[in-house]
Amino acid sequence: MTETISSESRLKVYPSMDELPQEEQALIQAAQASALRAYAKYSQFQVGAALRLEDGKIITGNNQENACYPAGLCAERVAFFAAKSQYPELAIKAVAVVAKRAEDEIFRAASPCGSCRQVMSEYENNQEDPIQLYMMDAEGKIYESASIENLLPFKFSEASLGNT
Ligand code: THU
Repeated sequence: MTETISSESRLKVYPSMDELPQEEQALIQAAQASALRAYAKYSQFQVGAALRLEDGKIITGNNQENACYPAGLCAERVAFFAAKSQYPELAIKAVAVVAKRAEDEIFRAASPCGSCRQVMSEYENNQEDPIQLYMMDAEGKIYESASIENLLPFKFSEASLGNT
């Protein structure tokens, strides 16, 4: 006998940024500004991430590429590692992720890669509140995930190690 278990990711979709509270709009704008500073020499794909800490500080990051391709790092991990290396005691409330091709004017839909979900999940597991995640598509619609866990079903975590 087999059974099927399933997990569903749910995203709330806002027709435009104007529908969001001011502080989330500011977060997305910070992510956009950061994307424009990306070092994306090889892919020409600029990604920006901006996260808000519990005290209101905004920390940004963008993708940093390398001639030795795998040595580069995604925008989300640059931002999360920057935040946690400077403010390890402050919880992360929300993160916005945006992307664009260097030759384009407009931002396009981009969802965090699996490795970045894993890294964000690690920090979410160590704080009380979930981390809200915002993404934007080419039409300017905003996608809100209530947590990182929502984007990482059947996750691997500290608990999986069996030593907690
Ligand atoms: N990239 C990110 O910065 N974040 C992601 O979640 C996916 C991909 C970067 C890595 C690389 O510099 C470029 O986008 C193309 O994959």
